[in-house]
Amino acid sequence: MKYLIVLLVSYLLGSIPVGYVVGRWVKGIDIRRYGSGNVGATNAFRTMGTGPGLAVLLGDAAKGLLAVLLGKAVGGPPLAILSGLAVMAGHSWSAFLRFQGGRGVATGAGALVAMAPKVVLTAFIIWTLTVLLSRYVSLGSILAAASLPLLMLYFREPWYYVLFGFLAAALVIYRHRPNIRRLLAGTEYKLGERVKRLK
Ligand code: G3P
Repeated sequence: MKYLIVLLVSYLLGSIPVGYVVGRWVKGIDIRRYGSGNVGATNAFRTMGTGPGLAVLLGDAAKGLLAVLLGKAVGGPPLAILSGLAVMAGHSWSAFLRFQGGRGVATGAGALVAMAPKVVLTAFIIWTLTVLLSRYVSLGSILAAASLPLLMLYFREPWYYVLFGFLAAALVIYRHRPNIRRLLAGTEYKLGERVKRLK
């Protein structure tokens, strides 16, 4: 029962739509109608600028970190990986946005900070290099996510973190389906590109 409550709390924590709330409160907009239509930090930076973008990034990452710390405190690493997946699921399929949501990158990164900091730091370097070279944030996120299970193995993390890395990568890549379609069509947003309002 205790475990189920932790998972529910993690899911609801993940469901808090930080990007949507910041958009409404700070700019009076529905962020889902701008740019990529995503409620995550990338679209917040793109649509609202540095301050609100940073707030969304930190808020989304904090959700992941808190959920995993809670899971760890109550049930140790096995519950931590489940609460990590629950918070990412909440972020991606938010109970407060009719099960719409973000891609899980910042929330997953926050979750990983409490599990395997060396892995998240290395994945962040991969993300940064890819974004700088390609100018596509989504490509950086996809490659950084794909590297997670391999980095878990490389840094000899316990098997349950390897499993988390694999599942988190699958979730993040699955949530990037619209980005993958745009990358293939050559219509993906580039870093610094002007934001368009969606219909
Ligand atoms: O972290 C999300 C990023 O990889 C893509 O964001 O807004 O371009 O879909 P966006």
